[in-house]
Amino acid sequence: SAILEKDRQPLSFRDVSRAALTTILDKNRHYYLDGKVADYIPELSKMDAKAVAIAVINEKGILIGAGNTQTKFTMQSISKPIALMLAVMEHGEESVFQKMGYFGTDKPFNHFSNLETMGKPLNPMMNAGAILTTSLISGDGQVPFDKILNMLRYITDNPTLDYSESVYASEKETGHRNRGMFYIMKNAGLISGSEEQLNNYFRQCSIELTTEDLAKIGFFFAHHCVRFDGDQRYKNSEMSKLIQSQMLIAGMYEFSGEYARTVGLPSKSGVGGGIVVSVPNQAGIAVFSAPLDTHGNSVVGYHMILDLVKQYNLSIF
Ligand code: DON
Repeated sequence: SAILEKDRQPLSFRDVSRAALTTILDKNRHYYLDGKVADYIPELSKMDAKAVAIAVINEKGILIGAGNTQTKFTMQSISKPIALMLAVMEHGEESVFQKMGYFGTDKPFNHFSNLETMGKPLNPMMNAGAILTTSLISGDGQVPFDKILNMLRYITDNPTLDYSESVYASEKETGHRNRGMFYIMKNAGLISGSEEQLNNYFRQCSIELTTEDLAKIGFFFAHHCVRFDGDQRYKNSEMSKLIQSQMLIAGMYEFSGEYARTVGLPSKSGVGGGIVVSVPNQAGIAVFSAPLDTHGNSVVGYHMILDLVKQYNLSIF
């Protein structure tokens, strides 16, 4: 019948609705049982394992969300692309990537990897590269962190964004691997400053935001660094290509290759349970659910993204 023909039309992502997101959320929320809330940063273990959210900023910059979209969580590794953006704005891509690689990885996010053999971090998405990236942002003391926070406040148009003192203290207290990487890079002459630069990395990881805020970050990189409301102050296509390419090859760490096959979109995860996704030239997507898989990626989040991508045919490939 005519109705059945109509139903066979591919769904347009422009028409994604709250009801469609709710269906995807309800179908996948049970996967929280397959994951484990991060506890290597003790303060993170207090997160609610059942909270779940999904949000989309469509190509018109309109926000559609379902679930606990107002629940705050720490952005963790999702702060790494912002630090990269600032370091490249200040020094240029060539100078930054003389100190680190464009390599993908088969190693976990906190692996020392070939810091010793190659003398450089693999890429700016793993901890070593991200710690180095943040140390390259100019300014004394907390100034580099303030630049990251202010950029995030701009991108989300949310002046209330801030970091969690308790998560920061917990990261600082237990971040011995990160401290080890910091000093290896200092020894290699890649880092010249004091441990306050490492503290800025811990602070950026502790920035709290909602799934709605996160979707706006996805939109920003999907749209040549133009904000969801059309503000073009930081418009820069080369920057968004660089950031999205790094998200694609290393944003999900050693899972990035399989993720590129199954999802096929530049994405970045954090151990707070968030994942941000950029659909180039279209939309920003964000998901949140705290329990993680063995790679440090949100289990429910991944399944929700997978369903959304299949339903609307969003893969770039
Ligand atoms: O440095 C750490 O280990 C954490 N602050 C961030 C790690 C992270 O988010 C890895 N992502 N999945």
